[in-house]
Amino acid sequence: MVSIQSSVTKTFGILTAGGDCPGLNAAIRGVCQTAHERYGMHIIGIADGYRGLIDENVRPLKPPDYAGILTRGGTILGASREKPFKAENGDSDKAVGKKVAAIKETYHKLKLDCLVILGGNGTNTTGSWLAQEGLNVIGLPKTIDNDVMGTDLTFGFDSALTICTEAIDRLHTTAESHHRIIVIELMGHKVGWLALYAGVAGGSDVILIPEIPYDIKAIGRHLEHRAKSGKTYSIVAVAEGALSLEEAKMDKHERKKYRAENGPSIAHRLTREISKETGMDTRPTVLGYMQRGGGPSAFDRVLATSFGVAAAELLAKGKYGRMVALNGNEIGSVDLSVPESKVKTVPLNHCMIDTAIAMGIFLGSK
Ligand code: F6P
Repeated sequence: MVSIQSSVTKTFGILTAGGDCPGLNAAIRGVCQTAHERYGMHIIGIADGYRGLIDENVRPLKPPDYAGILTRGGTILGASREKPFKAENGDSDKAVGKKVAAIKETYHKLKLDCLVILGGNGTNTTGSWLAQEGLNVIGLPKTIDNDVMGTDLTFGFDSALTICTEAIDRLHTTAESHHRIIVIELMGHKVGWLALYAGVAGGSDVILIPEIPYDIKAIGRHLEHRAKSGKTYSIVAVAEGALSLEEAKMDKHERKKYRAENGPSIAHRLTREISKETGMDTRPTVLGYMQRGGGPSAFDRVLATSFGVAAAELLAKGKYGRMVALNGNEIGSVDLSVPESKVKTVPLNHCMIDTAIAMGIFLGSK
């Protein structure tokens, strides 16, 4: 029987918000098991992200609740994209104020010493703003996009990378059999980490990411050069947020109009563009929510569990206003304001960009 150590935090609430991802339950288990077994803390589970705080949709979490969830996908708490500080669906400023007030009321009514939030850049931004409103908050960075500033990696990314790589492997055989160009659209929101890494892992011939607006004529020349050199098929991995040179020059409204006229899926738009440019038989695949489903990879189980334990240690020390982070091989933490209102894009001098180029992968623009 391990003796209970002293802790500044006696009771905390925990929520998961934003897009779900593999590893969330591993992280919940890491926080809760360490906090309860090592420090005797009491835990309140909050349903469906910040919405659960607004509606006081909460329940105590006991060991049987978080036992056996290490390998389970999704989140036992549920998630939502509720943004308490943002006026949505015609909300008035008064309505926004009411949402924030409701969160603070629930926090104090439950006598929470801290709120532990598992989420991406939006969730941690809301957490940082709640901290500025006087709540104690600790963040854990999760998302398949890996776009949270302040941490080298988020859990969820490696699991999605595995799913995307397997999909690209499968597309190679059917593209080869039919001498086709296959365009696979991968998630990543507004950044290209997932498409870049999955494209390299899957041996794609072209990788298109938002950070490098693409030139359809240059893509056509690259694909035609491959065909002339005997490569009768090609795989194009495209991030859902990738942009053509033309789109990159549009403002938000022009881009919205363009997409309303040409369809929301870049895989389908790009397929039409490539077919028109090269005359080659081209087919689209949108991998979609497969990238967020199922259980976590071994790497993500370790990363998520380690993030959870680190969060519990911050709770015990009363080190609030922090986000757990991976810095190289070290698990540490950064100020919760670091990810606030930012997105971590792929730097054009990143080693993986050079790796792709070295392997002859075309990145959409010479
Ligand atoms: O942030 C994770 C993510 O899967 C993004 O890659 C994607 O653009 C977005 O969520 C989809 O959001 P939703 O689940 O609300 O459709």
